[in-house]
Amino acid sequence: MNIWGKMDFFNTHISNRSAELVAQVLNSTWISEGKMVKEFETQLTTRLGIVNPVAVNSGTAALHLALALAGVGSGDEVILPAQTFVATGLVILMQKAIPVFADIDPYTGNISPQSIREKITVHTKAIMPVHWGGYPCDMDEISRIADQYNLAVIEDAAHALGATYKGKPIGALSRFTAFSFQAIKHVTTGDGGALCCLKERDAHLAFTKRWFGIDRTNSQPSILGERVYDIEAVGYKYHMNDLAAAVGLGNLDDFPLRLARRQQIGESYRAQLADIPGLQLLRQGTDRTHAYWLFTLLVERREDFIRKLAEKGITASVVHLRIDHNSVFGGIREDLLGQAEFNQVQVAIPVHERLKPEEVYMIVREIKSGW
Ligand SMILES: Cc1ncc(COP(=O)(O)O)c(C=O)c1O
Repeated sequence: MNIWGKMDFFNTHISNRSAELVAQVLNSTWISEGKMVKEFETQLTTRLGIVNPVAVNSGTAALHLALALAGVGSGDEVILPAQTFVATGLVILMQKAIPVFADIDPYTGNISPQSIREKITVHTKAIMPVHWGGYPCDMDEISRIADQYNLAVIEDAAHALGATYKGKPIGALSRFTAFSFQAIKHVTTGDGGALCCLKERDAHLAFTKRWFGIDRTNSQPSILGERVYDIEAVGYKYHMNDLAAAVGLGNLDDFPLRLARRQQIGESYRAQLADIPGLQLLRQGTDRTHAYWLFTLLVERREDFIRKLAEKGITASVVHLRIDHNSVFGGIREDLLGQAEFNQVQVAIPVHERLKPEEVYMIVREIKSGW
């Protein structure tokens, strides 16, 4: 319980090592992108097996960079689920492209490969699957569709650091994968993100584009004092800085333990909440592992459920409702039947690693006693 007598729904984890590394950076006077960013990228690969991570200053920046690198532009269509945060859709609009909402599986919250097929037109350029709550999408089917129609896959893995699909880490499967290191994510850098690129050429371009389009590694200052460069295409100010990277680097040390604790809590919920009237667990396969950023349930009379838990100091939350209702996206798509169903009943309970065993016990007890 926190100082307000409530259980935190999310956790912001800052390790002692992060504080030490931040102090090191502050004392060095080099606080912009430098050695710490490089080291954070190296450790992301060696510890987590994710491919060519390019550290940036938000998950949104990583998604936007991916669209730019995939050549998505004016009038192109990009297929995404509505069950996500608005960032996934807004970056498509930033490229003057058209978000096309596909349906989801109402028992996982993830995009339906069948619905993706139905939404493809001659204008489709990319697919953006979102691993809802940290549970991987059907990546084999999605990548088959992408290959068949020559589409780029940009995974939105903001919730899924540490998840695996058929033995491979999320971040090592598709042409692009975007992670978020925002305050309440598994590994935080304050704000930050990474774009993983399977192709070396994409990674090189991402490194360049994250800093205005200037090749920082290969451009040296002239005698006049400015780097010599020629910007060939639009770039952005999306690079991560060393202060943020220091926070992230320190938080990587105990990440496997923290992830394991989330998974343990998640599995214990699944075992204990399997047969409760009015409540359904999401479907999970044995071919993938869940990163448990969220533990989402499907609950009848959801508001009563949230109210009952709130009375006991436990926060339950939908976290994000479908995004297509926003005017900027043109309003609710009536054909998304799985999405409509999920939107009515989904709600998440706390699953973060700082929950004490007695808090997990209390959450289960209060749910079991009805709402
Ligand atoms: C599914 C999803 N995609 C993208 C983002 C954006 O990440 P960031 O806040 O790091 O820009 C979020 C943020 O929570 C998210 O939940």
